[in-house]
Amino acid sequence: MDLSARIYVAGHRGLAGSALMRCLERHGYRNLIGRTHAELDLTDHKSVSEFFEKERPEFVFVAAAKVGGILANNDYPADFIRSNLEVQTNVIHEAWRSGAKRLLFLGSSCIYPRDCPQPIREEYLLTGPLEFTNRAYAVAKIAGVEMCRSYNRQYGMRFLAAMPTNLYGPGDNYDLASSHVLPALLRKMHEAKIRGLERVTLWGTGSPRREFLCSDDMADACVMLMRLPDLRFDEILRGPNEFPLINIGCGVDQTIADLARTVASVVGFRGALEFDTSKPDGTPRKLLDVGRLKALGWSPRIALEAGIAAAYQDFLARESGARKTNETSEART
Ligand SMILES: NC(=O)c1ccc[n+]([C@@H]2O[C@H](COP(=O)([O-])OP(=O)(O)OC[C@H]3O[C@@H](n4cnc5c(N)ncnc54)[C@H](OP(=O)(O)O)[C@@H]3O)[C@@H](O)[C@H]2O)c1
Repeated sequence: MDLSARIYVAGHRGLAGSALMRCLERHGYRNLIGRTHAELDLTDHKSVSEFFEKERPEFVFVAAAKVGGILANNDYPADFIRSNLEVQTNVIHEAWRSGAKRLLFLGSSCIYPRDCPQPIREEYLLTGPLEFTNRAYAVAKIAGVEMCRSYNRQYGMRFLAAMPTNLYGPGDNYDLASSHVLPALLRKMHEAKIRGLERVTLWGTGSPRREFLCSDDMADACVMLMRLPDLRFDEILRGPNEFPLINIGCGVDQTIADLARTVASVVGFRGALEFDTSKPDGTPRKLLDVGRLKALGWSPRIALEAGIAAAYQDFLARESGARKTNETSEART
């Protein structure tokens, strides 16, 4: 992937996509292509086909997806399966049709079987039942992995699927109805601090263990993979059980209770943390085996507390931006 390569990042304004853009810019790539959802709806096959025909990207990162936390996944499974199947089918197929050299499709650690052994190795994909609440999303993403495998087998393409662990970072979604656990904790603690509350109540026992990676580290790993020489890249593509699959994580997890204490300390919330044990905990542990990634010499650079502190600064900047916009429009009316 030389510095003048034409690179398309689908979903370049999202959490993962924006981190990929920052990382590629840092490396000096100067032919980066991005389209917002409003400019190009990736569920619209005709528009996607015309876009690829015109732009002919040589390298494609698929970071566009309909993404949400447990509530959104549970309440809108039809939207999650349809939208994700359409987006990835259109992008993967058109990348093939327009002759892309390589493609990296972002899957997720939540598509592995619910009760698989820990840490989760790539070969556990499709070896057991999925978590019920996000099954529609997971099945769509598994279809994406299978599409990569099939286009590689039938057409000799170099399409890789990367499975990141839970991500957080600048540009995250802080809407409590659709956000993931870490941004949700950040917002809750921040609001509790501002309102001077004495306690914050969290769902479940706090004992489930989860792994978190800053989106900038995830992007660094993805770009490193796309820059591998062909022979090394092909070794990764041949992956376990013939899945062109690689896990992306830090290989370390902690309990939700410990995570909540770290977030409270970063935010400066000094009240008590209470756990509503009548609420479900979800999977007891979710930790990726990152042996294949480590064997390539990669390791994350951003420690959890420092990453959360940077995410909090981004959250505060966006809150203050939104407040100023509201004040300006109120002053106008
Ligand atoms: N966040 C995590 O913790 C995490 C963990 C593991 C894997 N991943 C994977 O990383 C990928 C990206 O996730 P993310 O967290 O970055 O999500 P995100 O912040 O919601 O970004 C997704 C982007 O895709 C765009 N998009 C969605 N539907 C589209 C459509 N029909 N046409 C054009 N653009 C569309 C969204 O635009 P709009 O917002 O305008 O719709 C948004 O910019 C997903 O495949 C996800 O599975 C994420």
